Amino acid sequence: MCNSFLEEVARRRTFAIISHPDAGKTTITEKILLFGKVIKTAGTIKSRGSNKYAKSDWMQIEKQRGISVTTSVMQFLYCGKLINLLDTPGHKDFSDDTYRTLAAVDCCLMIIDASKGVEERTHKLMEVARLNDIPVLTFMNKFDCDIRDPFDLLDETEKKLNIDCTPITWPIGFGKNFKGSYNLYNDIIYKYQAGKGHKIKELNIIEGIDNYNLDAEIGSELAMKLRSDIKLIKESFFEFDQKKFLNGKLSPVLFGSALGNFGIDHILNYLVSWAPSPMPRNTDMRLVYPKEKKFSGFVFKIQANMDPKHHDRIAFIRIVSGKYNKGMKLYHVRTKKNMIISDALTFIAGDRIHTKEAYSGDIIGLHNHGSIKIGDTFTQGENINFLGITKFAPEIFHSVRPKDPFRQKQLYNGLVEISEEGNVQFFRIIHNNECIIGTIGMLQFDMVVSRLNYEYKVEAIYTNVKISTVRWLECNNFKKFQSFQNNHKANIALDSNNNIIYIAYNMVNLKIVQERYPEIIFNKTQ
Ligand code: G4P
Repeated sequence: MCNSFLEEVARRRTFAIISHPDAGKTTITEKILLFGKVIKTAGTIKSRGSNKYAKSDWMQIEKQRGISVTTSVMQFLYCGKLINLLDTPGHKDFSDDTYRTLAAVDCCLMIIDASKGVEERTHKLMEVARLNDIPVLTFMNKFDCDIRDPFDLLDETEKKLNIDCTPITWPIGFGKNFKGSYNLYNDIIYKYQAGKGHKIKELNIIEGIDNYNLDAEIGSELAMKLRSDIKLIKESFFEFDQKKFLNGKLSPVLFGSALGNFGIDHILNYLVSWAPSPMPRNTDMRLVYPKEKKFSGFVFKIQANMDPKHHDRIAFIRIVSGKYNKGMKLYHVRTKKNMIISDALTFIAGDRIHTKEAYSGDIIGLHNHGSIKIGDTFTQGENINFLGITKFAPEIFHSVRPKDPFRQKQLYNGLVEISEEGNVQFFRIIHNNECIIGTIGMLQFDMVVSRLNYEYKVEAIYTNVKISTVRWLECNNFKKFQSFQNNHKANIALDSNNNIIYIAYNMVNLKIVQERYPEIIFNKTQ
């Protein structure tokens, strides 16, 4: 039976996983895909030390470093709902891409390593999630290890992340003595079966916290502790409130072990029942609703090398409203051009598939030969621009030139193309054509070096340059702006979109020019 347009939209769930590196995101993604029947046994996504990588680890540098650099998208069915899982790079160097991914989801799963508690990266990501009021479901992971007291963990999460928490399940024991969890809302104890958890295990449950069998099955000491913990929880935590969750004010908390494949089905069950279907999004003109029939969407990511044989780049579009149909005409708002799209892609665990249709909430990939940029809006004719896709000022800067001066053009093209993906930024100082690359972290810089070599065959010389920051300039007074640029030639550059940039070699100078030229706006983000 075919679903109607509205049914299709309503059954979509688009979410991302946020966590500090090593909290267990890859392991959880893998187990989620196991439940989503995308893979049959765990251990196929990433097997460290064995050089075995899944197709989602596209880039050369990922193989060398053993980390996931790029954001991947995976779509699968679970309990009749269509899940779009957007993977966010967990490494601390990768911020821009991760932040933009959060603009493309409707819900987040936050993973906390229960032996460590709330770590720095989680804190930063949650700040972004909170900015957009994204609902957040929390999973306390690694209960098969020595962990911190669960009450302490909840307390720390509430205080550090400024969000109310409410336990939905509660752990029974930990480490070698981990016995499972109790679900406060259906009064069922789910028993943990130790082992590596490569497969989906049969359900092993005890019904009711007052069930006699509980003492025999988990030991009377643990049973007693569980009953007193639950009494305390009921006295001290808010009950789950769907409205508060959807407003990003309350996070339901689940406990388990990703490695032991325990608790992952609980995550998915609650995601499909509580997480929102596609949400409306704001533009410079109006709010766009997912149930509107006309197509609209925005580009939140550009990714190169999904097929390294071709200089192939894919622009990832989050559909905000309407439906994509193969062969349809889309209006590219920035360039004011219509494009016939007949080869949009969807992504299933790293495999790309030509899709005939896609709905609000889905992510589609368009082949991009340079005309599509991050933040671009596509519609069926309406002149609107989606908001919220920001470009941050980089923190690390290098001047770059080719060893062989005849490769200048290749270097330039390479830098423009790599910077269009949004992880690094490229500036050209106007008066002497010096090329500068700016990154948020060193790893992104290493990635540029590796890709220039590998893909563009450019051996380059890099010099660290002392630049404190850059600012995107705006000014309505043409004459003043011209004279400012003439007086500060060494500071004026163009970014890859030909926007005018002020390069600040130190913050004191920046402050002085800002005071001297009040008619010029120095934007921190683009
Ligand atoms: P990340 O993507 O968030 O960086 O984390 P990842 O899943 O790679 O997990 C980091 C480490 O924590 C891995 O160990 C992984 O096996 C382990 N881990 C994840 N979940 C659990 C859990 O529930 N219990 C326990 N005990 N460990 C867990 P590793 O030694 O770094 O790698 P590997 O050799 O196991 O692949």
